[in-house]
Amino acid sequence: MREKITPRYFIKAKKEGKKLVMITAYEYMHAQLADEAGVDGLLIGDSLGMVIFGYRSTLPVTMNMIEHHLRAVLNASPRSLVVADMPFLSYEISREDAVRNAGKLIKIGADAVKVEGGIEIIDKIEAMTKIGIPVMGHIGLNPQRYLIYGLRLRGSTAEDAEKIIEDAKALQEAGVFSIVIEFTTSEIASEITKMLKIPTICIGSGVECDGQILVFHDLVGLTPSPPPFVRKYANAKEIFLEALKHYVNDVRQGLFPSEKESFRMDPSEYKRFLEKSKRYQTL
Ligand code: KIV
Repeated sequence: MREKITPRYFIKAKKEGKKLVMITAYEYMHAQLADEAGVDGLLIGDSLGMVIFGYRSTLPVTMNMIEHHLRAVLNASPRSLVVADMPFLSYEISREDAVRNAGKLIKIGADAVKVEGGIEIIDKIEAMTKIGIPVMGHIGLNPQRYLIYGLRLRGSTAEDAEKIIEDAKALQEAGVFSIVIEFTTSEIASEITKMLKIPTICIGSGVECDGQILVFHDLVGLTPSPPPFVRKYANAKEIFLEALKHYVNDVRQGLFPSEKESFRMDPSEYKRFLEKSKRYQTL
């Protein structure tokens, strides 16, 4: 059996120049599949608000939702590192909230937690890492702040690039073991990757990062309009739709279930039953 992946493994992989692969997972079977495919990390992302619950953003996601899906993923006993996203307002208000909520996810079984933001939440990150909670940062586009900043590409001006670089430095200082860089120009993601000792895991931020992450439903082709940086590796929507239409048709035509998919009584038992039921009818 291959060894369980830890935050330390992530840092070692960077030193050895080994690319890290992550994917989001929200349920038992997807986690098993991704683990079998050989990913290094599973993220119970707050993107579940959109792909599982159908919300328009990640803002309505609660600790309960993350906890529920974390349990489902952990039931797959994955070898991959299991990172649980901290939802909007579970860590920003106070250091106490951050530690209490991150602690909950760790007690359930997460190997690490992930938070969005940079310098403005550095005291919360320090409070968590100081007591031994492995934290993954998340800079560049932060979807939890889309109401103010939108969902636009980051790092396209020199000033914005400087801000993201300062965030990255502060996060490393605060003890995070890895940083997600989302939808940021590849030049800036590459600068950050070269500058840091900890690995960068990118999504829509170019190839020169230490690793990549994608949302499961985007990658397999279930999301109707995925972000522009997604590569669709399968047409799951078409495959599922075809299967479901076939099922609807078979039921309506009386073609499902067949004899093979039905289960009969022993003929002598059936005969006994018919005799008994005749007796009932004459009562
Ligand atoms: O919630 C999520 O899926 C994420 C990834 C986009 C990194 O945070």
